[in-house]
Amino acid sequence: MQISITKAEKLKPKPDDADLTFGTIFTDHMFNMDYDPENKWHNPRIEPYAPIAMDPSTMVLHYGQAVFEGLKAYRTESGAIQLFRPKDNFKRLNRSSRALCIPEIDEASVLDALKQLLNLETDWIPHAPETSLYIRPTIISMDPYLGVRASYMYRFFIILSPVGVYYSEGFNPIKIWVTKDHVRAVRGGMGEAKTPGNYAASLYAGEKAKKIGYTQVLWLDGVEQKYVEEVGSMNIFFVIDNEIISPELNGSILPGLTRDSVIQLAKYWNMKISERKISIDDVFNAHEAGKLQEIFGSGTAAVISPVGELKYNDNVIRIGNGKVGPIAHKFFKTITDIQFGKAEDPLRWIERI
Ligand code: COI
Repeated sequence: MQISITKAEKLKPKPDDADLTFGTIFTDHMFNMDYDPENKWHNPRIEPYAPIAMDPSTMVLHYGQAVFEGLKAYRTESGAIQLFRPKDNFKRLNRSSRALCIPEIDEASVLDALKQLLNLETDWIPHAPETSLYIRPTIISMDPYLGVRASYMYRFFIILSPVGVYYSEGFNPIKIWVTKDHVRAVRGGMGEAKTPGNYAASLYAGEKAKKIGYTQVLWLDGVEQKYVEEVGSMNIFFVIDNEIISPELNGSILPGLTRDSVIQLAKYWNMKISERKISIDDVFNAHEAGKLQEIFGSGTAAVISPVGELKYNDNVIRIGNGKVGPIAHKFFKTITDIQFGKAEDPLRWIERI
């Protein structure tokens, strides 16, 4: 793919690594590409980061027909820049696109475009431990039209954001609220697609959780409201009686790449790992029986995030005395060491640029 490059005339000041949070600062350039039925995906270009001009009737603003991805670029101690499983992100983007009637992108060309963008923005990749450059590929529907149908025109873009930790707790246990009052997704719906509507659906309960002192919501299945699904910004794992359990992918759970990495590593280490249905009652009963050892979440933004407290109705349980459990720690350390080039990459996840 021949990409045209227009460089920014003036570069922005770079933030201090120590000040980095999540998703507030954007680099000097972005990648853009357009789609229409006649020209298909065309006009790939790297340009200065800038607002996207759109008609107020643009379909994405009204019906949310859009998909996105999240991945990161890491700087190693030797100064190399590397990506973690980027091909899998673009594969998942296409999978999400199919669910939203969005035309698929050529995965290899788009990965090449990302690498070219990163080459231009290398100085934006932070140096401090636990910092990285978050990458947000996104596709939005662009027809100026108010009827409900799939759009004919689309914009694909990639923006970059230097980030620190996602949760203000850092790698410390977070508190999670389990609710039956709200549903994020149902089977047969779009729960497994990385699409804005799923995140919009999580906001109301998320704000309620914050008001009562909890960081996130643990979603139950949308049919029986009995089985654990995911947290919304991450997938979830339970360690019960030395078995690591993550809810099986059922169509309404996002197939997280960090989730898959945890599962693959656990198998590689011969740990007991299961993807299966697990009810919220199973979790509370395991705690009652003294068998619930750990709970942790997994996600690109959050990496591995230990859960120290669960609230479900009036029951509040504390897990691991507010400390990070050894299994969560082992996955966090191994995955981040691989991402930052400090450890071997036995499962071949790293792609250098
Ligand atoms: C990610 O982990 O990359 C996500 O997309 C979660 C969230 C920031 C939306």
